[in-house]
Amino acid sequence: MADNNKEGRDIQTQISRRRFLSYLSGLFIAGGFLLQGFAALKSLFPRVLYEPPTKFKVGMPSDFPEGVRFLPEHRLFIIRNDDRFHCISAICTHLGCTVNLAQYSPPKEYESHSGTAVSETYEFHCPCHGSKYRENGNVYAGPAPKPLPWYRMYTAPDGQMVVDTNTHVDHDFRLKV
Ligand code: FES
Repeated sequence: MADNNKEGRDIQTQISRRRFLSYLSGLFIAGGFLLQGFAALKSLFPRVLYEPPTKFKVGMPSDFPEGVRFLPEHRLFIIRNDDRFHCISAICTHLGCTVNLAQYSPPKEYESHSGTAVSETYEFHCPCHGSKYRENGNVYAGPAPKPLPWYRMYTAPDGQMVVDTNTHVDHDFRLKV
């Protein structure tokens, strides 16, 4: 009688072990399907990096008084000299901090590499590691490896000025309006 009971218990243990194993394998299969479904869904939404546009309107020429105006939303400077405009990046070429405008009155005098006397009314100074840029964006102090780039400007059909940060121009570039 005792042997029969033990045998019965063994059979029950075997059945519950089999059931457990079949549940477990069912779970693994369901998990596999779920993962595949998730991967398929993810592939429907490609990874895209949305970057700000590289061409944008900055306003009418009349919005800009004579001199330098900083546009913080675009991190650049628009410089007006009579009816001629140019645009210089405000992004430090060292590690990307935004440079500050330093204005001088009376103008600051210095001697260029070629020995000629130059006077300027403003410069750009980086607050992060002390790089300093001349009026034309050339570096003269600090760790910045390159000058501040100048961006191409043009006039849109509605008369607004457009800056194209994708196109760098030489220091003799001017937009005449
Ligand atoms: S980020 Fe401008 S000097 Fe370092």
